[in-house]
Amino acid sequence: MVLRCGAPWSLVCVLGLFTKIGALCRDAACDAVPSASSALVQRKLLVAGDASQMELREAEGNTGDCQSWCSPNPSTCTFNECKACAGCDGMPHCAGWCEHNTKDWSAKCAMWTCQDCGACNSSPSSPNGYTYVGTGYCDGGYIGGWDTADAVDIETCAQKCSSELNCKFFSLQVGATCSRYSSVAGNCTTRFRPNQYVTFGKAPARPGYVAGEPGAAWSPEHQKAIRAKLIRVFQESDAVCREANIEVPGERWSGLPTMAKFLRLAFHDCMKYADGTGGCDGCLEWKGVGGRYTRDQHGKKQLNVSDDGHHNGLRPTVEILEKIYTDPNFPPKAPGLWQSPKESGFSRADLWAFAGMVAVEHGIHLNNLACHKLDLDDAHGILSQCHPRVGEPDCEVAAPRPFHFASGRKDCVPDPTADQPYKTFKTELHPDPGANAASTLAYFKRDFGFNARETVAILGAHTLGRVHNTISLHQYTWKTRSAMLFNNGYFRNLASKEDWYYPTGSFPNGTNIRTATCRGFGNSRGERAPARWKPHAFYHLTNGGPVQWLQEKKVCPCFDPSWTRPDEGCCNDDPFSCKAGCEEYRIVLGMDETMLNSDMSLYRQFSTNDGIPAGCPGLEDWNSEAIKSDWRLRSPRIPSNDVHGDSWDSSHCPFTTIADPPGSTPMYRVVEEYADSNEKFFADFFPVLEKMLMNGYNASDLVVTPMASHACPYQDPHDWHRHYSCS
Ligand code: HEM
Ligand SMILES: *[C@@H]1O[C@H](CO)[C@@H](O)[C@H](O)[C@H]1NC(C)=O
Ligand SMILES: *[C@@H]1O[C@H](CO)[C@@H](O)[C@H](O)[C@H]1NC(C)=O
Ligand SMILES: *[C@@H]1O[C@H](CO)[C@@H](O)[C@H](O)[C@H]1NC(C)=O
Ligand SMILES: *[C@@H]1O[C@H](CO)[C@@H](O)[C@H](O)[C@H]1NC(C)=O
Repeated sequence: MVLRCGAPWSLVCVLGLFTKIGALCRDAACDAVPSASSALVQRKLLVAGDASQMELREAEGNTGDCQSWCSPNPSTCTFNECKACAGCDGMPHCAGWCEHNTKDWSAKCAMWTCQDCGACNSSPSSPNGYTYVGTGYCDGGYIGGWDTADAVDIETCAQKCSSELNCKFFSLQVGATCSRYSSVAGNCTTRFRPNQYVTFGKAPARPGYVAGEPGAAWSPEHQKAIRAKLIRVFQESDAVCREANIEVPGERWSGLPTMAKFLRLAFHDCMKYADGTGGCDGCLEWKGVGGRYTRDQHGKKQLNVSDDGHHNGLRPTVEILEKIYTDPNFPPKAPGLWQSPKESGFSRADLWAFAGMVAVEHGIHLNNLACHKLDLDDAHGILSQCHPRVGEPDCEVAAPRPFHFASGRKDCVPDPTADQPYKTFKTELHPDPGANAASTLAYFKRDFGFNARETVAILGAHTLGRVHNTISLHQYTWKTRSAMLFNNGYFRNLASKEDWYYPTGSFPNGTNIRTATCRGFGNSRGERAPARWKPHAFYHLTNGGPVQWLQEKKVCPCFDPSWTRPDEGCCNDDPFSCKAGCEEYRIVLGMDETMLNSDMSLYRQFSTNDGIPAGCPGLEDWNSEAIKSDWRLRSPRIPSNDVHGDSWDSSHCPFTTIADPPGSTPMYRVVEEYADSNEKFFADFFPVLEKMLMNGYNASDLVVTPMASHACPYQDPHDWHRHYSCS
């Protein structure tokens, strides 16, 4: 390094050898050195790395300027500043004007502006999209700035800031630093070193999003930043709700915003109003949302199904999204934005739709992570999921293509009587979980324009998540222990494909099965077990319902210490095995695999009577009266009036042969196609989810682009230094 500017003492001053400053810097030309050094110390805190390297770079950055400005008289040049050297300080004209106007020009002439000195009192012209903030650098939210290539001039530095979504201000010191600051720097009113730096801020897009107008298009950078925010919420919903002060009504576990809830919300947002208008509009009928059925109301045959709204359970999810929508820096440990999505002109409806798609994609990502883990000792982390297809060629899944993300949805114009813009009190039309396939198809056909295949495909969304009895009076899950993994498991279960059984409870030696292993249980030959479905009435409603279908798998029961079958020899020391013929049908006690009527009926055809399945051989006498008359008839029996009779199961119902359009593949065959092939399910699910998320719009009114490619490294929620980001 050649330091031609100034005598050797200037380097000493630059390096911050404060003890020597007193002795060495008595020279008048050295006046500015102490403040330069302290600024240097401050900036040292902002940049990681080798301190001495950094100092040298700073000195280098200024050598050139100083050199040329002060070449006639190098001793008048100190670090970063030139004293008594007309034409220096980076603003020859300004200096010249100031010199002309006042004797004390050096005090009045800063890098770009001259205070109190007539002609040159104007601010520098702002680059496009920026406004001049003033001189000096911001005092917080530093992002970066040591690359001298960015510090060439205002335009170059502005371009750098424009390329960064979290850059809100930049403070330029020509030839040295192009420091960028995130929105955390607030309005950047407190600034330092006014004679060294000039600061510009991104000009806010006013007035941001206006309800009723199409949302602005999202750049790939915005997609990546918002995706990373969402993934932090998916993985740390509990912590994120606390950070945002979001109250979770009822039992906390059932209300937290999970991936599944984002997907459910995306659907519910796109429902139509009773008057046939609407679609995806960033607005929910708020009736009943946040209400909960308490446990002491359960099982008493006293509740009415229509008492409550159907968006129940989604309040914290909506609130988290609203926080992301309006706060550029939420959540922490994820990318910050220089302005919020709302200020950027995006619509809420576009954000909700985006979140639904990201949930599916994240479910695919987790599916594949689970496939690569053979045993899951981390029972509490996100990878506590168990993949029933581990070791099989169809375990890993792949998106057929990126989702096509549409932007341009219009938010509802807020109801002036509502306290939040996303609440409406207009009635929305919901599907009925107690209904059969004909009604479900009619709903999706009327409100979403779906045919039979599309209706089957969209219900595959139920591969994620579960039902909650305090939220919807339904309980259990579609996929025991793999409700975060997006794959065709829902259809495999629906079609009673053989699969591993994951019991709750403890091994005979007392070890909790769920926290001990992901190994599934099968039959006496160690194979995956066959399954059957039985309807069960839960006694919450006045008619004895709701009815849900519960799956049983025919497995070796030797894991169960309470199993007392008189004939000996069924079990040996290995709780996973049993003697041939000892298998029994078992539910997953307390964590049953379940189907709603609307799910089950895609495969097995039945009619319903106030939510109670009917119309199949053997169900003739199974109705509300019978169900309510004896708790043992909560599941139908063979013969039907014998409370001790055998269990009736869904195989007595015919397959669902509904085909729409006529002549197309009947619904039960579509279920089987999907059960046999992830590829076939995904190939239909991707376009139908896109179609659902455009409900109420013509595609030509939206801006549709393939989702930006993304790699979002897994973050361990226990890692203090974790930062969620996608590249
Ligand atoms: C016939 C149509 C449908 C019916 C009757 C239905 C019904 C339900 C019910 C009752 C719940 C339980 C809510 C709770 O207790 O927390 C639920 C959950 C869910 N629904 Fe649907 N749904 C239907 C279609 C859809 C569609 C089209 C999607 C998305 C594309 C979807 C996504 C979900 C998800 C992901 C969950 C799990 C939420 C969680 O884990 O909290 N559903 N659905
Ligand atoms: C902006 O500056 C004002 C003072 O001028 C201050 O009161 C306010 O808190 C600042 N805003 C932010 C977001 O930092
Ligand atoms: C359910 O409806 C019946 C008949 O309309 C009514 O008498 C009863 O009070 C309702 N139950 C609840 C819990 O609202
Ligand atoms: C209990 O039994 C299970 C199944 O055989 C086994 O995996 C586990 O290691 C045992 N635990 C203890 C503490 O012996
Ligand atoms: C979609 O386009 C059709 C035909 O141009 C038009 O009649 C309809 O109103 C449009 N729908 C929406 C929601 O813009």
